[in-house]
Amino acid sequence: MDANELNKALADLEVLAREATEAFAAASSADDVEKSRIRFLGQKHGRIEEFEAFFKNLPKEGKKAFGMRFNEVKTALKQAHEQSVVRVRPEARVGATSSVALHSSAAVRFDFSLPGLRPRLGRKHPLTQTAEELVDIFGRFGFTLATGPEIEDERHNFEALNIPLAHPARDPADNFYVDDKTLLRSQTSTVQIREMEKQPPPVRVVAIGRVYRPDAIDATHSCMFHQIEGLYVDKKVTLADLKTVLRLFAASYLGHDVHIRFRPSFFPFTEPSVEVDMSWDLRGGKWIELGGAGMVDPNVFRAVGYDPEIYSGFAFGLGIERMCMRRHGINDIRQFYENDVRFLEQF
Ligand code: FA5
Repeated sequence: MDANELNKALADLEVLAREATEAFAAASSADDVEKSRIRFLGQKHGRIEEFEAFFKNLPKEGKKAFGMRFNEVKTALKQAHEQSVVRVRPEARVGATSSVALHSSAAVRFDFSLPGLRPRLGRKHPLTQTAEELVDIFGRFGFTLATGPEIEDERHNFEALNIPLAHPARDPADNFYVDDKTLLRSQTSTVQIREMEKQPPPVRVVAIGRVYRPDAIDATHSCMFHQIEGLYVDKKVTLADLKTVLRLFAASYLGHDVHIRFRPSFFPFTEPSVEVDMSWDLRGGKWIELGGAGMVDPNVFRAVGYDPEIYSGFAFGLGIERMCMRRHGINDIRQFYENDVRFLEQF
């Protein structure tokens, strides 16, 4: 074999390389790709086979001169083929299991040790997330979690909380009565009574749960909402302890730039009583009511058999929806209950 013959074969090989690369690049369907593969790389009549046969018949010194370029071209064409397979079938990149993808050389690129695709899982409701975070924060302050029933008797919802029969809060029109003596609890303060009935002081608990009131529904009011109740009873507990705990809580949950304000108020089961408001922007002067609080009324202690001469305590009850709304910039409480996935999947 002379040098001219070898040079001509090398030149033909370059033409094949160019044509095949262009054909794979231009292929726009799996069919096109397969046709080009058969035409250029096919084992029976593929054009690369002519060169394979030519290579095999070369004498030793020719093999060396031709073989190196021949192998480079062959590898490049196989790569061009793989790329076109992936390009026309993008799912081949993420591990399609069809026989075409698995048996084509593109499948070699698939790493079977990779984790599977993440399934579309649900997530916790923003109120559940908030409740869990509150339990966590108060847990760090030493408060354990208490629970109570949502269907309550009048003793726990009213009487032991120093709310007499004539009090307007007991008006059947302002509560969801189930029958003459039982109602859906209107506040989580019921759990204060249940906890003090169960154990002697000291008590340090929080309770989280649903409460029900026939309030007119608007952007900040719902007829079912959630409260977190706190109760701390021991010797020498003072209003300063209450203020410290609520300030620490606000800084932990809402951030250090939040301001807390206490306004004198009235609740039958606390004396003195306060409303707790929060604000981020003092210049804007906008305060949002968080809930009520105060020092446990001596009558409540007497109702559960605690001696008010020895023990004192504070209690608070905060609205969870409003906290969560302020934290996430939610402007309508009804969004929590509409089950719109577009809203829920943001949390
Ligand atoms: C009470 O329910 C008292 N039990 C709180 C308390 C506990 C005082 C312990 C003293 C000691 P109030 O009715 O203000 O208080 O409700 C507390 C909070 O629940 C409100 O500040 C508000 O954040 C939330 N809340 C009240 N009504 C609604 C409603 N209809 N929709 C959503 N949130 C509400």
